[in-house]
Amino acid sequence: MKNALFLLLLFLVFSCNQNNQNGYKETSDHKLMTDSVAVLAKIAMETHCYLCHSPTAAEVEGRIAPPMIAVKAKYLKHYISQESFTSAVVKFVENPTSEHAIMVDAVKKHGIMPKQDFPKNSLQQIANYMYQYQIEEPVWFAKQWEAGARQKWLQTGRKLEVLKTEETYADIGLRYALGTKKILGKNLMGAIQKKGTLEALDFCNMQAMPLTDSMSTHYNARIKRVSDKNRNPNNRANTEELTYISQFKKQTSEKQEIKPLVVEKENKVHVYYPIETNTMCLQCHGKPQAIQPKVAKQILKLYPKDLAIGYSESEVRGMWSIVFDKN
Ligand code: HEC
Ligand code: HEC
Repeated sequence: MKNALFLLLLFLVFSCNQNNQNGYKETSDHKLMTDSVAVLAKIAMETHCYLCHSPTAAEVEGRIAPPMIAVKAKYLKHYISQESFTSAVVKFVENPTSEHAIMVDAVKKHGIMPKQDFPKNSLQQIANYMYQYQIEEPVWFAKQWEAGARQKWLQTGRKLEVLKTEETYADIGLRYALGTKKILGKNLMGAIQKKGTLEALDFCNMQAMPLTDSMSTHYNARIKRVSDKNRNPNNRANTEELTYISQFKKQTSEKQEIKPLVVEKENKVHVYYPIETNTMCLQCHGKPQAIQPKVAKQILKLYPKDLAIGYSESEVRGMWSIVFDKN
């Protein structure tokens, strides 16, 4: 546990003080992001996009989407200026459709990106950050790109100089939540892509709890997914948790950037963070007309008291409830 504190977060060496109110410096050709804004954009990208666009997953096996660097490379090929690059990324993410997709092979392989709302301004900043800075790149990427595009690969952009600082309790809790979400999400999307929704339902039924528990052991923390409209009776939120869920619902509907909630109790730390839906979730949690009849039937068979339907995308489906020892 003690070591967890020394697992370090990224921070700035230099922070620019000549930035204007938006955190951009005007230059003759285009707006340059300052390093302090870039750090926030980088964290937003890691929080919202790396779940699927991870730079660490293997080249083929276990991928549910191309790494972010592949998106950057492809978009830079089509969109040369920062304005056109950023507006293309934002436009796609706000409304992913096959007609607008330019990563045709990725769509074939993984299906179209699920739709989900992201906090105001964060998409724009993520896209500008990808354009202006070097982002993490898996070792196999250059070779794959050079084979496909038949041109030398050298990533463009400035390097973000970062200094390591100690993780806060909020950082630790968020790291556990996102780590568990990644494992569950990867396995779920993999099951849907390979076998279809009905089989994936069995996967959730059999594996969601054991996978979550194994992540609890891995992090030496108690990790749970709880909900006000739970499917599995073991996942019902308690009274305290219900108040946090309604707080998160309000923040999400206002499209605020959401921070983990930290509550310290004696020698324990409790961290809460919302779980939101994207379009993919609606196959099993959507409005009745969005769920295939055979899937709906199987859900009721496995969970006769199911409450977890009726959702649209970008709604609070539940919350991570994480407890670990103070260091
Ligand atoms: C739930 C998984 C998931 C998340 C989260 C996600 N993506 Fe994607 N994204 C995908 C998949 C799968 C593809 C490949 C298929 C496609 O192109 O639609 C993709 C493709 C893309 C593309 C290329 C689209 C094209 O074909 O032209 C862009 C741009 C993109 N994502 C941006 C983002 C950004 C920015 C974020 C974070 C704010 C993000 N994605 C979060 C799954 C995800
Ligand atoms: C293939 C069907 C399926 C899909 C798709 C699916 N879920 Fe679920 N979900 C389930 C099942 C089944 C359970 C109950 C798991 C258990 O018994 O532990 C569940 C449980 C949950 C829980 C725990 C609380 C509860 O109600 O028991 C949350 C939170 C959750 N899902 C969120 C999501 C989100 C967010 C997505 C999309 C990213 C999603 N689910 C996609 C089937 C699905």
